[in-house]
Amino acid sequence: MILDIDFVRAQFPQCSDNPEHVFCCNAGGSYVAQPVIERMQHYNQHTRVQPYYAFTPSQEAGQAMDAARQGWALALNIEIGELTIGPSTSMNSYVMAQALGAAWGPGDEIIVTQQDHEANIGVWRRKAEEKGVTIREWAVNPVTGLLDPADLDQLLSDRTRWLFFTHCSNLIGTVNPVADIVQKVRSQGTAKVCVDAVAYAPHHICDLKALGVDIYLFSLYKVFGPHQGILYVNGQLSDQLLGQSHYFTQNVDSKRYNPAGPQHAQIAACRGVLDYFDALHLHHGGKAGDSAAVKMAAIHTLTFGHETILARPMLEYLNQSSKARLLGKVHCDDGDRAATISFKPLRKSSADVTTLMRKDGIGTENGNFYAPRVLKNLGIDIDDGVVRVSLLHYNTLKDVERILVSLDSAL
Ligand SMILES: Cc1ncc(COP(=O)(O)O)c(C=O)c1O
Repeated sequence: MILDIDFVRAQFPQCSDNPEHVFCCNAGGSYVAQPVIERMQHYNQHTRVQPYYAFTPSQEAGQAMDAARQGWALALNIEIGELTIGPSTSMNSYVMAQALGAAWGPGDEIIVTQQDHEANIGVWRRKAEEKGVTIREWAVNPVTGLLDPADLDQLLSDRTRWLFFTHCSNLIGTVNPVADIVQKVRSQGTAKVCVDAVAYAPHHICDLKALGVDIYLFSLYKVFGPHQGILYVNGQLSDQLLGQSHYFTQNVDSKRYNPAGPQHAQIAACRGVLDYFDALHLHHGGKAGDSAAVKMAAIHTLTFGHETILARPMLEYLNQSSKARLLGKVHCDDGDRAATISFKPLRKSSADVTTLMRKDGIGTENGNFYAPRVLKNLGIDIDDGVVRVSLLHYNTLKDVERILVSLDSAL
């Protein structure tokens, strides 16, 4: 079964808004699916009151928020009490640093990577420094930017409390083998695992119990939805942690790790992403009664297959070019390469290349994308940074052809 790209693009109003524009900055934030827009509109038009009171619009508002939470818990195969929908991943990781760090002290160790976005490094490092905890760094390969799980053997010890790493770097684009890494950590001690999936979730919504992680975070504004962050905290772990909201909401699942308080309309609209997935699945031969696991796996096969078709010519071009240094894996044959493609132009600045590409209607950007540490370790200037072309399943081969023509001329 191949992806019906016309059906897909019809679900995203922005795809037809400006057909001449090639949008390839998806890792910064995706287009929003039509059902999300409709749910947001409905909430604001009909139920824009404080939710969960006894009168009718308020009850409906609460039901819309509950439906979103229930749907996402099912999609991720977690208990609803293990789910927080907070303002963003950066805010969620900041809050979790306060919750986890309360129990840290001298003698403890944490491991952070050189590959992550700063949202999954800085907060943990700062808390560790405050608590006298030793920070160990999982280094990237200085040429490719890849992480080697074998390096963990030297870093893990019986003092390790947490390992923080990314499911897929927002610059390197290669998917780290989360389940294998979790197994390695479990076999070597009692350390817990926190995974930032912000750059991976737009490509695949995972079964979190199958992955075996303790904490997992991603942002729905990059997964066709509203500006909200999904936070999973394993229930047994959560029972041992300090809640971070008011003393009287500490034990309310939806508020425990959300001191900002739930953003009502946005949370209700989160359900629209799942409506979109349902429509996509049904349109491609799925059944209404399919389990969440079957549905997400089928969607992943479809969308990843399409994204691989988009990524392949980009990677081939950049890999053979003498005018650019491609980061991460140079091919997508192993099924572990997202279509998030970063490169350093070798004869021009990254800023000059993106300026030229924008003149051709190519919506791309350059910089460090809040992941300066990985660039520093690859010897790349963190201000000019790299050019990043990030594609999702609503992009087309025609988009890629236009990007390549423009890129070739810009380089
Ligand atoms: C890999 C990665 N992690 C974390 C974040 C932070 O997410 P948020 O913008 O929701 O705080 C981003 C944002 O770009 C990201 O790309």
